[in-house]
Amino acid sequence: MNTKIIQAEDGADLSRQAAHLFAELAGRAIEERGRFVVALSGGSTPRSLFQLLAGEEWRSKVEWEKVHLFWGDERTVAPDHPDSNYRMSRESLLDPLHLPPANIHRILSEEAPPERAARLYEEEIRRFFELRPGRLPRFDLIFLGLGEDAHTASLFPHTPALEEKQRLVVANPVSSLSTSRITFTEPVINHARAVVFLVGGSAKAEALKNVLEGERRPKHWPAQLIQPTEGKLFFVVDREAASRLTRS
Ligand code: 6PG
Repeated sequence: MNTKIIQAEDGADLSRQAAHLFAELAGRAIEERGRFVVALSGGSTPRSLFQLLAGEEWRSKVEWEKVHLFWGDERTVAPDHPDSNYRMSRESLLDPLHLPPANIHRILSEEAPPERAARLYEEEIRRFFELRPGRLPRFDLIFLGLGEDAHTASLFPHTPALEEKQRLVVANPVSSLSTSRITFTEPVINHARAVVFLVGGSAKAEALKNVLEGERRPKHWPAQLIQPTEGKLFFVVDREAASRLTRS
């Protein structure tokens, strides 16, 4: 599996590099299959990328009507809650681009209990990809972030979701946050054609070094689980986040 590290100067450059990659992958997918199926990451890092993609310079570089958006994970809050990954994406990308509602595949995070939200999302994915039982969806691109504890999506250290190898989406109890999260499982992420980590800031330097250069401890550093079986793996990192890496 080949891992490509794309070094950016700072947060703004990280977003520019990621926008280039997004547009390139989108063009290829649409040319080959007539659509581009993406799972967005949450947290704060992607916001500036989404704003860039929705802006004058980039919006015309992607055939947005052929882009289908999913989310790799979501907090168990309402879609208009300040912590909602969907809300962040809606404000920065969906609303400015006026994407067709049929292209937006939101995690119904307000459904309770969280396991119900996970099952509904699993059904949405199976329906969209017309999956036979036991088959995995093949996303064209899955964006991921990296937590300071080396979690990714909502695969947090020492949580049950790390062990899940059959389901596509699960509700993952995260005791360190006193909440449950809805998250893609490792098999879904590793079946993607491309996985792109966006990692910026000095606070992520230790986690990034552990994930890329540390001993293999995926229960402790869950981002180490991400090794696409047939897809490409990219880390778009800024100088601060890459400051602890020893290899180029
Ligand atoms: C979430 C995420 C999570 C995030 C990392 C990095 O729902 O929070 O999907 O995995 O990507 O925690 O978050 P920041 O970009 O805010 O540092």
